[in-house]
Amino acid sequence: MSKQLQEAARRLAASKNILVLTGAGISADSGIPTFRGKDGLWNNRRGEELASIDLLLEDPKLAWQWYDAMRVLIAKNKPNPGHLALAALEKMRPDLALTTQNIDGYHSDAGSRRVFELHGNFWRLRCMACGKMDENRQAPIKELPPKCACGGLLRPDIVLYGEQLPVEALEGAFARARESDFCLVVGTSCVVYPAALLPQAAKRNGAFLLEVNPENTQLSEYADMTINGTAAAVLPKLVHALQS
Ligand code: OAD
Repeated sequence: MSKQLQEAARRLAASKNILVLTGAGISADSGIPTFRGKDGLWNNRRGEELASIDLLLEDPKLAWQWYDAMRVLIAKNKPNPGHLALAALEKMRPDLALTTQNIDGYHSDAGSRRVFELHGNFWRLRCMACGKMDENRQAPIKELPPKCACGGLLRPDIVLYGEQLPVEALEGAFARARESDFCLVVGTSCVVYPAALLPQAAKRNGAFLLEVNPENTQLSEYADMTINGTAAAVLPKLVHALQS
């Protein structure tokens, strides 16, 4: 095992309050394109345009064609060893809180229980007229855009560009960040706020900041350690090192 991993596991073992922040990169190993990676385009449109409230209001059918394509892709694939390792870590360490920017639901599918979904979840649909919310795992959806029984337009319960983050999840995540002494940041470019502020809040609390990402990011310069590798390769080794 590398010296870096040994040191990371030693720090993790000595900690009392773990905060994890994940981004699209952890699901890349499951075959889900990242947001800003080269494969993140759909029909030549960028994620920022597709996942915007403007597109949903202007052209619900087009917006839904993208949501539906993503939901089909997520349904076809599954959590990978990176997600499973975090679920295993949560079992060993009840102090762990997992915050994610991902909307694929893979952390819960992998068995994680204390998950703050900062950007919502693709499988919950909400009526834009009556507000009714339901889980809906149909993929593909038969008729786009889907409608509620009341006739209103359904939308995924995710945070679109131009919208605010859910206050409860956000406050919960920042409260945990301020208490944490070990912060693990996996697979995020850390450019979208306020989620990108979580590691900084943890660091201000004196937390050891460990980043796992094949590439360096904006976070790397103030992380205590960056392990350049994929989530599926590094996280199982980290958890294994903690057990041994
Ligand atoms: P990005 O696409 O910006 O960043 C993905 C990160 O994952 C990059 O830093 C990659 O280097 C890294 N990565 C790629 N493959 C990886 C692997 N196998 N293992 C680990 N890391 C890997 O995605 P996010 O940072 O998640 O929000 O983007 C944040 C938010 O931007 C998204 O939640 C989305 C978007 O706005 C909304 O839609 C509201």
